[in-house]
Amino acid sequence: MSRRLFIILLVAQFVRYATFMTWENWIPPFVNRTDLLCPSDRCELDPTLYVRTKNQCCTCHAEPSWKLFPFIYDLVLEYSRRGGTAQLIGNTTRTNARLVHSNGFLSKLPDNVCEFVNLVEIEATYNKISSIGNISCLQMLDTLDLSFNSIELIGNSTFQNLPLLRELRLISNGIKTVEPYALAGTTMSIFWADLSSNNMTKIDLSNLVPENRFCRYDFSSNKIVEIVNEQNFQINVDKIYHGGFVDLDANNITQWFDFKDLGIDDITILGKIMQFGLSLQEMKWTCDCKMEPFLELTQDALKRIWRDYYNVTCWDPPEYRGLSITEHFVKGDKLHLLICNKTSADKCPKECHCFYQPKNRTTVVNCTGVGLTRLPQYVPEGENLTLLFEGNTIESLEYREYLNRSYTISLSNNQIHTISSNAIESIGNNAFLDLSVNDMYELPRDFQSFDPCITKLGKIQISCDCGDEWLIDWVKNKRAEQCKNTTEIICIIGDESVSTIDLDLGNFCNNDTNLKFFNILVGIMIALLLGISGVLYTFRYELFILRRRFISKRSSKVYPYHKYDVFISFDDNDKELRIWVMKALAPYLQNFGYRIYIPCRDDKFGDVKKDALIDKINICKNYIIILCDKYHTEKNRWTTVEWKHIWHSFKLNQERQVIVINYHQLESSEVQENKLKAFVRVGNDIDFSNRKHDLFNDIKDRLGSPIRTNDGLKCAKTKFAARSLHNNELFALDI
Ligand SMILES: *[C@@H]1O[C@H](CO)[C@@H](O)[C@H](O)[C@H]1NC(C)=O
Ligand SMILES: *[C@@H]1O[C@H](CO)[C@@H](O)[C@H](O)[C@H]1NC(C)=O
Ligand SMILES: *[C@@H]1O[C@H](CO)[C@@H](O)[C@H](O)[C@H]1NC(C)=O
Ligand SMILES: *[C@@H]1O[C@H](CO)[C@@H](O)[C@H](O)[C@H]1NC(C)=O
Ligand SMILES: *[C@@H]1O[C@H](CO)[C@@H](O)[C@H](O)[C@H]1NC(C)=O
Ligand SMILES: *[C@@H]1O[C@H](CO)[C@@H](O)[C@H](O)[C@H]1NC(C)=O
Ligand SMILES: *[C@@H]1O[C@H](CO)[C@@H](O)[C@H](O)[C@H]1NC(C)=O
Ligand SMILES: *[C@@H]1O[C@H](CO)[C@@H](O)[C@H](O)[C@H]1NC(C)=O
Ligand SMILES: *[C@@H]1O[C@H](CO)[C@@H](O)[C@H](O)[C@H]1NC(C)=O
Ligand SMILES: *[C@@H]1O[C@H](CO)[C@@H](O)[C@H](O)[C@H]1NC(C)=O
Ligand SMILES: *[C@@H]1O[C@H](CO)[C@@H](O)[C@H](O)[C@H]1NC(C)=O
Ligand SMILES: *[C@@H]1O[C@H](CO)[C@@H](O)[C@H](O)[C@H]1NC(C)=O
Repeated sequence: MSRRLFIILLVAQFVRYATFMTWENWIPPFVNRTDLLCPSDRCELDPTLYVRTKNQCCTCHAEPSWKLFPFIYDLVLEYSRRGGTAQLIGNTTRTNARLVHSNGFLSKLPDNVCEFVNLVEIEATYNKISSIGNISCLQMLDTLDLSFNSIELIGNSTFQNLPLLRELRLISNGIKTVEPYALAGTTMSIFWADLSSNNMTKIDLSNLVPENRFCRYDFSSNKIVEIVNEQNFQINVDKIYHGGFVDLDANNITQWFDFKDLGIDDITILGKIMQFGLSLQEMKWTCDCKMEPFLELTQDALKRIWRDYYNVTCWDPPEYRGLSITEHFVKGDKLHLLICNKTSADKCPKECHCFYQPKNRTTVVNCTGVGLTRLPQYVPEGENLTLLFEGNTIESLEYREYLNRSYTISLSNNQIHTISSNAIESIGNNAFLDLSVNDMYELPRDFQSFDPCITKLGKIQISCDCGDEWLIDWVKNKRAEQCKNTTEIICIIGDESVSTIDLDLGNFCNNDTNLKFFNILVGIMIALLLGISGVLYTFRYELFILRRRFISKRSSKVYPYHKYDVFISFDDNDKELRIWVMKALAPYLQNFGYRIYIPCRDDKFGDVKKDALIDKINICKNYIIILCDKYHTEKNRWTTVEWKHIWHSFKLNQERQVIVINYHQLESSEVQENKLKAFVRVGNDIDFSNRKHDLFNDIKDRLGSPIRTNDGLKCAKTKFAARSLHNNELFALDI
């Protein structure tokens, strides 16, 4: 090559790189090298290039200075034998040495490659290299391009000691295996790795998540079915992963990554690698529940920063085929459509459709309208079940083990009439229980722990009675009015149906309580009345006497048939008494003008004694009874008869008075005859003991003024016959 031509070439190169760009020295913070130049205007000025940071940009666009200014020393290759072995020829100490040998027959790198420690670039595309071999000696190697060879394995030590290896191209080699940590590790810092169009069936996580910043790792068009983590690679939460772009397009991955299997128990850790770009296009994605957690986690980020290279479309299930995961599910907020079906093997009842729905954190058992007549015996495992049993002919809500791990229980449009307490107890208080449109006519009291705004009973009609106060309290306390839409309990009470919201059970039941109260009251009153009547009956005479005392006192009316002022009835067998009456009482009263009838004195001999007695009693206005111990006894029959008629007369005629003089000072208990006893009891008797002064005055007072007639002093039969004042029968007091 002539010097002239070299200069032209040099200028051409310079123009190519330098004319339009300003290159400035860039020292990556993560690798010890100073030979990189970064197109600063491109990485700082052009905002359309999705440049996140200068480092990110430079990672992709920086070039070693020897590439920009081709101070390159090309080595010469010489085949030593058939079979593709070769030797390098050149000055082993020259810097920036390069081997370029494409479309050859190399079966491996030249044997003496380690002698050229300053090799910075090897380009041996379209050869027949089947193994890279041990190149740890090439400490200065920056670029290795072995595309279109036959390499099948990349071992974990192959690039490990190449700290400056920046670009690695191994396109279309038929690589089957890339060992864990083959591309990424603490001693490596590969910016570009292109392993597209190979035969890889799996890729290890450790090779996808380099600690150091990188530009693009391309694994597209392999046969990768899954991402694995064979060496238990862990994302270091203390490190900052700046990431880069990973292209996995056109592989055979269909199932979303199971992050648990990848050793990522907490997928929020993936937030550490959120700055990574990941292209997953041209794969037959199965859009199911496995995708959901990742998408949910990255939802915000996906909406904001992940761009169209994240053009991932569904293949399965068929109904989602062609739908963009980002556009349809993430941006369209339809992540709840990403589900995994559960089969009979997962205990899904055979008539039903069961699926796990991570977005709603629930496992749905959809038995809508499948003709169930009872609750299924079993449903899939899992917490927080959603049981959709509506539109069947289930007749009773019985206990099932799964009820207590169910969050939504829809039993509307069934024929439930029986609800077991067990079942209700096992349902959580906050469960959404929908029992609308069933045949319930009663509600177990266990319902009172539910919130009628959550437990949907629909509009149910039940028969209520006065024992259902809890129901009213329940409805009132839980403010059921606000959720009339979901739960309205209509009470059929008597002939009326009333919403429990308006129902005042009192209106219906007070009658009863009133009645009870009334009954009690009546009872009490009857008892009282009986008691009172008893008392009244017992003291009937006393009451009568008292009443008379008030009514007839000082009656001054003149009754023409009164011939005598007073009839004195006493035991005339008592001599002493007889003397006192004759000599003391009678004269005293007569002295004041009273006319007195004393039977023993005034009775005409030969009168039919009883008839005469009745007549005499009738024509006397008042009666003095001198009560002695024998006054009313069997022996003294006569006074007994006298008393009987006196009482009768006294009772019928209000103007008459009976004055009882307690001659023997008897206690009421000593008096046998009830009426006499009553006189003593009410204190209406005159105590004989005070005879000295007051006795006579007392008697006089009680008698009132004497009646004035023309008749003489003798008791005599008058012409005024008593007008049937008497019938001779014994009478009974009717009070
Ligand atoms: C760069 O080299 C220096 C010493 O040569 C060392 O201390 C430092 O850790 C290295 N940095 C990196 C990122 O390798
Ligand atoms: C090899 O290159 C070095 C400089 O890098 C030079 O000093 C030496 O003479 C060269 N050797 C030969 C044989 O050309
Ligand atoms: C590669 O070669 C180096 C010496 O250049 C040696 O130390 C190392 O053990 C070799 N590695 C393998 C895997 O053979
Ligand atoms: C490399 O792989 C071998 C087995 O393939 C393993 O024993 C070794 O620990 C690995 N080394 C690293 C650094 O991963
Ligand atoms: C990949 O493997 C298949 C057989 O599994 C083979 O037919 C094909 O040629 C391989 N591809 C490459 C690039 O080696
Ligand atoms: C990968 O997918 C291709 C077509 O997409 C298919 O022919 C091939 O059998 C699949 N390979 C594996 C291992 O699944
Ligand atoms: C997504 O990929 C399909 C083919 O897989 C392509 O037709 C479509 O244009 C891509 N969409 C975007 C936004 O890149
Ligand atoms: C789940 O099952 C339903 C009905 O059998 C089916 O239509 C749907 O595609 C299935 N979904 C998935 C993700 O398998
Ligand atoms: C899951 O939640 C969405 C709203 O986030 C709702 O539309 C959907 O009906 C729910 N699915 C089930 C089965 O409850
Ligand atoms: C249970 O499932 C419901 C949806 O049916 C959901 O709203 C709720 O957050 C879930 N609860 C838990 C603890 O996962
Ligand atoms: C449950 O199944 C019924 C009938 O198959 C369907 O109409 C309804 O949408 C399903 N509900 C859910 C949440 O899958
Ligand atoms: C009840 O239903 C009506 C219309 O059907 C609706 O406007 C109202 O918001 C609902 N109330 C509640 C508390 O859901």
